[in-house]
Amino acid sequence: MSDKNNNSLLRIPRHLAIIMDGNGRWAKKKGFIRSIGHKNGVDTLREITTACAELGVSYLTVYAFSTENWSRPQSEVKALMTLLVSSLKKELTTLMKNEIRLSAIGDISLLPAKCRRELLEVMDKTAQNGRMTLSLALSYSSRIEMVHCMKKIGQKLIEGQITISDIDESLIANNLFTFGMPDPDLLIRTGGEMRVSNYLLWQIAYCELYFSDKLWPEFTREDLENALIDYQNRERRFGKTSEQIAEENTL
Ligand code: FPP
Repeated sequence: MSDKNNNSLLRIPRHLAIIMDGNGRWAKKKGFIRSIGHKNGVDTLREITTACAELGVSYLTVYAFSTENWSRPQSEVKALMTLLVSSLKKELTTLMKNEIRLSAIGDISLLPAKCRRELLEVMDKTAQNGRMTLSLALSYSSRIEMVHCMKKIGQKLIEGQITISDIDESLIANNLFTFGMPDPDLLIRTGGEMRVSNYLLWQIAYCELYFSDKLWPEFTREDLENALIDYQNRERRFGKTSEQIAEENTL
């Protein structure tokens, strides 16, 4: 990574979240059907995942298919599910070679049986890999995640496993799909839109946001590095003052 400041490797985000937007527009621009955009999006995902593992990111969570995406034309949904199965089959080698554990967040019970089977198989085969966790957000929406979370907590209350006073931030975090993961430090969205689209809303409370105009299939390792350099030059205050942060950094 080019060293535009002297802390390039010190402040790599522990958890990077990405909204991979722009596949459809990229395909349209090139005169292809939308599914070709998604296919090229998988190539970008491979390049960025490998780069993240090499750069020392511990958790990479990508928005691959939202709950709202189920309402896209059935032909596109089908193409995405077929691509998911073929990509899982094809990418196992890359995941193993780079010691990447595959995980998933979202309501994966809604995926076609074939997708779910392939996903669970790759998750199982990569479970012992310890360099980085790649989480695919599949059939994911943050609000639905919160509904699931509240139902789980409600059930524990009814069963007497917890009382109202046990409900705190950590109980909520532990009942989200992302339990056990640190919150994202940086969220990158490609495709030029500036919104968070129902993605990890609880988890991004203190996350730095980075928007790129590049469409996902044309986003490169260099673009990723530029986003990381931008992140490294930000001051994360978590509600404190600059002076407090400076003092903490000298301790
Ligand atoms: C947004 O682009 C992207 C998606 C809905 C899917 C992202 C999926 C991949 C990169 C492939 C990997 C995932 C699977 C399931 C194999 P868009 O179609 O909304 O683009 P647009 O905004 O230009 O229309």
